[in-house]
Amino acid sequence: MTRAIEAVAFDAYGTLFDVHSVGALAEAMFAGQGARLSAAWRVAQIDYTRLRTLSDRYEDFLKVTEDALVFASKTLGLDLDADRRARLMAQYDCLSAYPENVAVLGSLRRMGLKLAILSNGTPAMLDAVLANAGMQGLFDHVLSVDAIRRYKTAREAYDLGPAAFGYPPARIVFVSSNGWDVCGATWYGYRTFWVNRPGNALEELGVRPAGEGRDLNDLLAFVGS
Ligand code: LAC
Repeated sequence: MTRAIEAVAFDAYGTLFDVHSVGALAEAMFAGQGARLSAAWRVAQIDYTRLRTLSDRYEDFLKVTEDALVFASKTLGLDLDADRRARLMAQYDCLSAYPENVAVLGSLRRMGLKLAILSNGTPAMLDAVLANAGMQGLFDHVLSVDAIRRYKTAREAYDLGPAAFGYPPARIVFVSSNGWDVCGATWYGYRTFWVNRPGNALEELGVRPAGEGRDLNDLLAFVGS
């Protein structure tokens, strides 16, 4: 193992949990529109995190997520009544975990690495989704930007990792499926690994993650190299 690496910090939504697993319920509610709603919801959610951080108008990720759902539904002309809204929001507590997660996290722990989640999600959201996936206890730290009221890619958000682990960012691997998040984390100074499940293009931001793979299994080879 690369001795310089002491810890691994994971993004949550999209990386450990499939945010588009809400699409099945959305499809049952709005036939033919489930995938479109799921995609528009996610785009608005991330947009709102950036707008609120840039303009110092923090609201927590639960509020941002619900606002994004309402906006996405209106944009697509869908009738999001109170019951549908509540049921779609409740899905956020039981998003599907990617199937290789638990085995890979166990392997990393056996390699002696410390593990954390570093997410925009609130502590309550993260506790719920981890509990429903049976993944509590796998992480040394569950870090939420709610503690500092600024979303990634603000430096204060990425600061949570080194502060919790007590290691500089170059000795921490930051893992995300979100291209913008691996770029932000690379700029910050983490050693980054991009879980690029769909084979997306690299963001045109003049920065390249240290490693890239198709799922978390590829991360094992990266940290072991
Ligand atoms: C997170 C979102 C951005 O977990 O994926 O922070």
